[in-house]
Amino acid sequence: MPKRIVLAYSGGLDTSVAIPWMKEKYGAEVIALTLDLGQGRDLEAVRQKALKTGASKALVVDAREEFVREYIWRALKAGAVYEGVYPLTTALGRPLIAKHLVTVALQEGADAVAHGCTGKGNDQVRFDVAVMALAPHLEVIAPVREWGMTRDEEKEYARARGIPVPEQKGRVYSVDENLFGRAIEGEDLENPWNEPPEDAFAWTRHPSLAPDTPLSLEIDFQLGIPVAVNGESLGPVALIEYLNRVAGEHGVGRIDHLENRLVGIKSREVYEAPAAVVLHMAHRALETATLSKEQLRFKDTVAQHYADLVYNGLWFTAHRQDLDAYVESTQRFVTGTVRLRLFKGTAQVVGRKSPYSLYSHRLATYGKGDAYDHRSAIGFIRVFGLPVRTQAQVQGITQGETPPPRKSPR
Ligand code: ARG
Repeated sequence: MPKRIVLAYSGGLDTSVAIPWMKEKYGAEVIALTLDLGQGRDLEAVRQKALKTGASKALVVDAREEFVREYIWRALKAGAVYEGVYPLTTALGRPLIAKHLVTVALQEGADAVAHGCTGKGNDQVRFDVAVMALAPHLEVIAPVREWGMTRDEEKEYARARGIPVPEQKGRVYSVDENLFGRAIEGEDLENPWNEPPEDAFAWTRHPSLAPDTPLSLEIDFQLGIPVAVNGESLGPVALIEYLNRVAGEHGVGRIDHLENRLVGIKSREVYEAPAAVVLHMAHRALETATLSKEQLRFKDTVAQHYADLVYNGLWFTAHRQDLDAYVESTQRFVTGTVRLRLFKGTAQVVGRKSPYSLYSHRLATYGKGDAYDHRSAIGFIRVFGLPVRTQAQVQGITQGETPPPRKSPR
């Protein structure tokens, strides 16, 4: 039986009920830990709530800068976007929370850590596996996964112990929020045919309500990392906050996805991630100028592996470190500027430049100053097309021999 437990505390109903539940079940002492990942809540109030709810100690740690530098920037450089659309906002935050849980557990001499995840999601995997990697001797407790209470029973349990239960009107979504984005689940979204209602969104305007004048943004990158917007240097946290605000205003960053969870469920997920969408787009655009075709192709496959790995909770693994080493090496010339235009829900790259750009005007131009040797193309194509010609000569021409399409089953 654990004697001292460090709980990842959000201030919501689940993690609040978890405090008395663990105290009663194990007779243990509970220390609450809340990380500031930019979720925009009054965290001193959250800390006070933890103490009132029975935590013996409550800590708040500002991890925003660490989150950006050590997690978000790595994923950005890797181009890690799950299933082509999800910028891994929640998935990147979990290992960082787990790391701080472990740090506090070791400092406080705790024998267990706890989190408020259910048994149906990815987040439980991310917490559990990260703790296994960082402190294999620690027990991980997930009260919500164990207690088997319905939402109403949980509220009853809370009221009986004097825990305030907020009376929420209207639709109550399940939201997870940090600097890099907002994940929204539940309510009407559980039917994937339903268009997300406007009240699901908090960071982005509906495109029809976005300003009528387009916004031009110039983002400077150094070694794959964004460092300035419109010529103004910004620290990592400020840069993301700024982009969230302006891109959100222009209706950029809404994502509607039917997602494959690690635990085998398909789930309708809606996200708002204005900065993430803009940054991935801009970063990729700069890579198209500064990386070779082979680097771009290979890096795409690495990006997919990287995204799956982050999604599946394998952040603290040797494999991730190895992929990071490759990614880091690819970024040594990803320095330059990308110009984007945001307008009524869309973001478009409209310009890119770099001192290391591989684009050569002399080679590409159809105008004056063409330095490309047109005659050398003839010999190249003769060799390039050689196997096609040989096959045609020996086996015949394949044109028109495609089998007709099969009728659809119904
Ligand atoms: N589906 C996303 C992920 O697995 C978001 C999860 C959001 N979590 C939540 N408690 N609402 O990363």
